[in-house]
Amino acid sequence: MDEQTARRDLIEICHLMYERSYVVSSDGNVSVQLGDGRVLATPTMTCKGRMTEDSIAVTDLEGRSLNDRRASSELAMHLLIYRERPDVKAVCHAHPPHGTAFAVAGLPIDQPILSEVILTLGCVPLAEYGTPSTDELSDAMRPLVKHHNALLMANHGAVAYGSDLWQAWDRLETLEHTAKIAILSRVLGGSRNLSPDAIEKLINVRESAGYLDEGARCQACGYLHETRLSCPTGDRPTPRSYSATNGSGRVSLSREELVELLSQAARLSER
Ligand code: 13P
Repeated sequence: MDEQTARRDLIEICHLMYERSYVVSSDGNVSVQLGDGRVLATPTMTCKGRMTEDSIAVTDLEGRSLNDRRASSELAMHLLIYRERPDVKAVCHAHPPHGTAFAVAGLPIDQPILSEVILTLGCVPLAEYGTPSTDELSDAMRPLVKHHNALLMANHGAVAYGSDLWQAWDRLETLEHTAKIAILSRVLGGSRNLSPDAIEKLINVRESAGYLDEGARCQACGYLHETRLSCPTGDRPTPRSYSATNGSGRVSLSREELVELLSQAARLSER
């Protein structure tokens, strides 16, 4: 991508983030690789609603500054994603209210409730809490980056990434929209999950249409748990609920999840 387009798109996305209340004050950060070893990044402590092209920081892929702007304090988290995912060229981090509510409640966004989300985004897991701008945060995210396109960061916010700025933004927007719908459906009495058969068909469509490749089958979620599909590494996806805890350390399960857990325990005791 040429630098002029990258600068223009980065500013447009910063303004969108602020206008949609995905960030307030100086929250959030965005970066994009230029393809020549340089990275454009939002500067630290700058309101995304007031960003202009001349405030953009330029660094190399190690985070060393290449102009007179100080890049985001969370650039290391962006660089980790670039290292783990060579297909990723842009990263958007924000604190969108509904997605962040999941992160604060200690919940991933991984229930199979929306066909389009299974097609285009997949599960959004929850990375353990890590102090922003330190290795703790990158360490918590590292194991999840490879097979997911967006993550929640416990008690912090959300990050989404993609092959260009607009794909990263679209994924962040889908994450927030899904979280909002999930919360609203709970207010209405709870959501109904798609059937294993429906999930399997959606995963087949997303792979043949090229929305997501087989790597996304290794997500730490329940999508594949009941289907006949297996993930290419042979890893069995871990159902979400077994690792989901809230602040008190309690694990909450839906009726469906409890039945599955008890069936698994029964199967194990038969061996
Ligand atoms: P920066 O201003 O350093 O990018 O940090 C913003 C932020 O969102 C911290 O979580």
